[in-house]
Amino acid sequence: MMEKLIIKGGRRLSGTVLTSGAKNAALPILAATILTEGKSRLLNVPDVVDIDSMRKLLSTLGVAVSSPGEDRHIIEVNIGALSRLEAPYDLVRKMRASVVVLGPMLARYGRARVSMPGGCAIGERPIDMHLAALAKMGATIEIDHGYIEARARQLVGARISLDYPTVGGTENIICAATLAKGTTVIDNAAREPEIVDLADFLNAAGARVSGAGTHQVTVDGVDGLTGVEHSIIPDRIEAGTYALAAAITGGEVTVSRCNPGDLGAPLEKLLEAGCEVETSEDSLTVKATGRARPVGITTQPYPGYPTDLQAQWLAFMTLADGSSIVRETVFERRFAHVQELRRMGAKITVDGDMAVVTGVERLQGAPVMCTDIRASASLVLAGLAAENSTVISRIYHIDRGYERIEEKLRALGADIARKRA
Ligand code: EPZ
Repeated sequence: MMEKLIIKGGRRLSGTVLTSGAKNAALPILAATILTEGKSRLLNVPDVVDIDSMRKLLSTLGVAVSSPGEDRHIIEVNIGALSRLEAPYDLVRKMRASVVVLGPMLARYGRARVSMPGGCAIGERPIDMHLAALAKMGATIEIDHGYIEARARQLVGARISLDYPTVGGTENIICAATLAKGTTVIDNAAREPEIVDLADFLNAAGARVSGAGTHQVTVDGVDGLTGVEHSIIPDRIEAGTYALAAAITGGEVTVSRCNPGDLGAPLEKLLEAGCEVETSEDSLTVKATGRARPVGITTQPYPGYPTDLQAQWLAFMTLADGSSIVRETVFERRFAHVQELRRMGAKITVDGDMAVVTGVERLQGAPVMCTDIRASASLVLAGLAAENSTVISRIYHIDRGYERIEEKLRALGADIARKRA
């Protein structure tokens, strides 16, 4: 069923919005349950479509996954023996993050067959570093009819130096290393908060992972892991998106149940743009104080400005008082939102990895189309600030990563509705 979001823009948002659990922490942690034996209970899991896809993938492998109960934010899994060691094309095609089952399956069962992810809307996204690291840990890896075939009787710890701090790669390697023989050291590891959450889950389950959140992660292999209860960290990207919703609409919004410490770079940029920002231990408040000053960003691995908030920042800058430069260094094709924002009257030119945004006085509502999760969020932000109605189609992209976005925005005073096309 095709659905659309219809936004009548021009309302200043105000009030408080609750942050959901982090999709990008919950996905690898759900995959990591494959390493454990027995029951795990995950709390604060976001109720989004990508989580449903991971649920489906785990069921396909033979994991007993609880069906959504009264509280849709709790998932219970019971790991016995897997009945199938294959992540099929149909599921990986829909969600690339499915490849994080590779490390856990290989480590626990000595074998994994995972559909090779293709390119996607935001870039090539190869997984060469995941595969090279697993090979260094003793796995044989072959590509067969579009599938990665990985085998290893017993993985062995290794020293792995990543050319780039890949998030998914770091997660796959950490998972694989928990049950490997000996010690694995990952240099130039990704430092994202989601990596720390994964390590916390694994350590609670009996793993020995240290240094998560730094450039060097060390994993001492253990014989087995047990099921545990774990609460997923708040979604920093969702929190940042609502902070930007306040900024772009000239409003004042408190984002609660989040971790402002995970949003250092974006909050710094909001201050530079002229917003007032207040933080407590688990909430942040952003208040706009007039037209935004133009402020450029360059996306970087954590703790730099996140690529997952680039499109939203760009939307904000379309209404700033001057020109700014948005550089995307993480993914090579992550500017699909630009063409849609232009349809709303934004002035943006793209040259390679750089978008030059010249602020305009107002955006006009228009029919626009989503291309990926964060590009969609930027269209929602633009629609909230634009004159008249914006009709956003292909919103399944939004539903992959944002829980009940229209309800949350409506509670802040937005005029937004979901309609069947
Ligand atoms: C994770 O993707 C996130 N996904 C992405 O969020 C996020 O944008 C990205 O990290 C960067 O922060 C999940 O956590 C599920 P990478 P991931 O491996 O792990 C290149 C969203 O909207 N690379 O750090 O796939 C790659 O092509 C999504 O929620 C290789 O060249 O990101 C990219 O250019 C989108 N070879 C860069 O590194 C490899 O082996 C970063 O990718 C691995 C990656």
